[in-house]
Amino acid sequence: MTAEPFLWWRDGVIYQIYPRSFASSSGSGVGDLQGIRGKLPYLQDLGVDAIWLSPIYPSPNVDFGYDVSNYVDIHPDFGTLADFDALVADAHARGIRIVLDLVLNHTSDQHPWFQQARQGRDNPYRDYYLWRDPRPGGGPPNNWQAVFGGSAWEWDEASGQYYYHMFYKQQPDVNWRNPAVRQAMLDVFRFWLERGVDGFRLDVFNLYFKHADLPDNPPKLGLRGYDRQEHIYDNNQPEMMDLLAEIRALLDQYPERYMVGETFDSSAEMAAQYCAPGRLHAAFNFKMLTQGWRPGGYLRAIQEWEHVLAPESWPNYVLNNHDVRRSASRFGRGENDERLKVAAAMLLSLRGTPFLYYGEEIGMRDISLRRSEILDPIGKRYWPFHKGRDGCRAPMQWDASENAGFGAGKPWLPPHPDYPFRNAAAQAEDPDSLLNFYKRLLALRREHAALRQGLFQPLSYEPRAVLGYLRQTQTETLLVALNFRRWPARLVLGGRMANRRWRLLLSNKRSEAPVPQDGVIALAGEEALILKMV
Ligand code: NOJ
Repeated sequence: MTAEPFLWWRDGVIYQIYPRSFASSSGSGVGDLQGIRGKLPYLQDLGVDAIWLSPIYPSPNVDFGYDVSNYVDIHPDFGTLADFDALVADAHARGIRIVLDLVLNHTSDQHPWFQQARQGRDNPYRDYYLWRDPRPGGGPPNNWQAVFGGSAWEWDEASGQYYYHMFYKQQPDVNWRNPAVRQAMLDVFRFWLERGVDGFRLDVFNLYFKHADLPDNPPKLGLRGYDRQEHIYDNNQPEMMDLLAEIRALLDQYPERYMVGETFDSSAEMAAQYCAPGRLHAAFNFKMLTQGWRPGGYLRAIQEWEHVLAPESWPNYVLNNHDVRRSASRFGRGENDERLKVAAAMLLSLRGTPFLYYGEEIGMRDISLRRSEILDPIGKRYWPFHKGRDGCRAPMQWDASENAGFGAGKPWLPPHPDYPFRNAAAQAEDPDSLLNFYKRLLALRREHAALRQGLFQPLSYEPRAVLGYLRQTQTETLLVALNFRRWPARLVLGGRMANRRWRLLLSNKRSEAPVPQDGVIALAGEEALILKMV
């Protein structure tokens, strides 16, 4: 295949920022837009092409920004619209695109629409949400469960009806079947597009529509109420496809805009349908967030994704986000980062857009909190079985100064105690650090079209030790060999490959290209190796 010109969202790397935790300019203990702006040189030096900001809109913060009370303004904790415009301008000047997180499945209960809607059955905004009478004999209209716990129906004493919420009761789901809602939401896209935003991450978009008749979901085995039913009527309804086409048509009126959807609780096949031509540019596939540290599981996830996607669709890969334990805590060993280098080399050499999560590039680990320190309501509710998501949202570890250099003022969550030695400043100085390894990978990806667009061809592999694959364009063949184990392993190159010569592009374990012996490349323990065929 011949390489195409660089397209930011396909060829580039997208870096997720959790704004509360990235950098604070104000000393309030909460990160802000000016803080992010001040770190653009760092991001440019790292080599990312875009930043995705978790929600920055006004919000009472029951779900830390995923409960929006105004879609077209900035949370005062984060700054103002003027700060936002300045961030966009500075980011663009550095070649960094801005992706906003749009949370359009539900609003905050403090949103003026809901405030109006709960005034009574006749209020013009009532139908912006899903209100229903109790079922005959009393009780919620159907058996639907909220993923954050309990019935998804909340009783409103004043009007004698229930309203529906998939997440917290302070996050009522909107009624996307109401044309006024649809129009208002499209206007939200337009507002930010006009402000120069380059793309959107759509929070749980596949929940927008629920079955119009609200039938009970069929039961299945599971632990919690939510897990004890098949979610066939409260998500993935066919109406979503037309809506995506409509939003896509809107985005396509602007050059090089992008949207990636968070496909909530769904299969790779379903995600693939949502990013078929004319719909989303990309849909997340979260398979890699739950893989154990074995090459076989990753290879399966990659092959499944490659298999289900339409030929015109584009994959993406992610090892971390603001909802899961950090990869460094899932499979890092103590403070050792070698496995994380192997994981980084995989993520950044696959055929698909890599998403990084702030701090991943320095191997930040989750923080541990005492029960009394937990802020995430699901952590409060399910402690000690699920301690919530605060662990992966700790302040970015910039340097060894107070508060990890996050800013003056007590940070909203404590920094990880390893910050005096694990921080961006220290790693910038150390040529063997994880940070410098990420930088080299990002630079390699930019340099070699084969890493961005080349065909992905797995090599024969040892399912418990080595993952090996080729990335190929018409003019270039690169080989990626990843040893997941601590002890040496072999990658066998069969057929015509056996006698080829290779140039070293990157390794965390050697400085000269290996010379295959009888078609076998000997890998050091936990080695990540990228070679170019000469
Ligand atoms: C998915 C988001 O990633 C998560 O953080 C949030 O709690 C829910 N959607 C609700 O918006």
